[in-house]
Amino acid sequence: MDRPRITIFDTTLRDGEQSPGCSMNVQEKLRLAQQLDRLGVDVIEAGFPIASDGDFEAVQRIAASVRRPIIAGLARACSGDVDRAWQALQGAAHPRIHVFLATSDIHLKYKLRITSERCLEQARDAVRHAKSLCADVEFSPEDATRTDIPFLCEVVEAVIAAGATTVNIPDTVGYTMPEEYGQLIRALYENVAGIDKATISTHCHNDLGLAVANSLAGVQNGARQVECTINGIGERAGNASLEEIVMAMRVRPDRYAFETGVASEQLYSSSQMLAEITRVPVQPNKAITGRNAFAHEAGIHQDGMLKNPLTYEIMTPQSVGVPDSRLVLGKHSGRHALALRCEQLGHQFERRELDEVYRRFVVLADRIKKVQDSHLLELIQDVTSGDVSRGNVSKSEVTGNQGKKFPPAAAALPLPRAVSAAANSNEAHPAHASNTGQATMLIPFTDHHSEQEDYLWGV
Ligand code: KIV
Ligand code: ZN
Repeated sequence: MDRPRITIFDTTLRDGEQSPGCSMNVQEKLRLAQQLDRLGVDVIEAGFPIASDGDFEAVQRIAASVRRPIIAGLARACSGDVDRAWQALQGAAHPRIHVFLATSDIHLKYKLRITSERCLEQARDAVRHAKSLCADVEFSPEDATRTDIPFLCEVVEAVIAAGATTVNIPDTVGYTMPEEYGQLIRALYENVAGIDKATISTHCHNDLGLAVANSLAGVQNGARQVECTINGIGERAGNASLEEIVMAMRVRPDRYAFETGVASEQLYSSSQMLAEITRVPVQPNKAITGRNAFAHEAGIHQDGMLKNPLTYEIMTPQSVGVPDSRLVLGKHSGRHALALRCEQLGHQFERRELDEVYRRFVVLADRIKKVQDSHLLELIQDVTSGDVSRGNVSKSEVTGNQGKKFPPAAAALPLPRAVSAAANSNEAHPAHASNTGQATMLIPFTDHHSEQEDYLWGV
């Protein structure tokens, strides 16, 4: 039987970009939007066109060049915003206007200073206006989770009658609890006339660390769109993390029997690209895409992993696109291996650009033996920014110790003697002796799962 399909609405370029230190220029947004397209998200919220000329241009350029997914533009519930969003979305193959208006007493009283009657009227009018321009209209009652439920039902019913095709239920301040949020979604299904005409969506913030759990509770209770961001970036503590939601459904279909269109092998490169563009690093223990997500340090864990990776891993690194660490990049590596690692880091090159990356890579590899991802990213940045001054790395740069860009020969972490010995004696889990003579742990990439176990591995 087919599993229900969940629409993945990515708001990295809008809500995500609102987080401190995460702003992006038009070119960067375009590059990330192209990666989101490769990742397979259904909707890209490209920006808030009235907010700035830069946002307007980003939405316009993404709309013109990213043709498969729906491209959404955000608007407050007033005709000026809606018109501006529509102007930016004109060239989109699949445009969506996303209108929002706060509905909670606290926002109506202190922020908007309007009555609930006025709020209802304004929401209905804005959606009607958006609908007169665009067939695909989403409405978000901001701060929905702190809104009086009968009033929320009234607003949702009114906007659906006015033509909203998606109604999003934001937990704007990250206040709700999973069970409570699930009940709220259920209450809408039970009390709103015409709800079957719209898709109900989740939009959860992470102030209490519950954004993913709340989103999943929403899905379990009938929501069929999830709004989320790469690396969970977003206002304050962030939004629900796209990679965590997608992989929760892939690894636990026994609990969450839903499909998404996401190509999970693109998760790691999407995460890396965002971190590189914003220069906001991914926390090492970040689920799915952090550098420790598939690392095993404790002796007991390493022992278990060597015997059978199922002991300590619930999904394969390959299933989320974490590069195969056996593929060591050094002076003997070819163009193909280099191109593959670049792709895994979120960079696809034309032949001529790759030639230049390769030329610099060989010079570097000759000096530092093992080229780490961080070196490669710096080198790529030099090539893409046309910086020739750093192209040929000087000897002092690679041999000095302090404040230098490239360290001396890249150090692989030594394994405890017992584990490396065990690894060496096990054909299926070979240890690799690096140029420095140290053993590196290579266990995650063995062929370790049977068909029955596939569900555990998200494959
Ligand atoms: O968190 C929120 O309420 C929002 C809305 C604009 C959807 O981001
Ligand atoms: Zn938000």
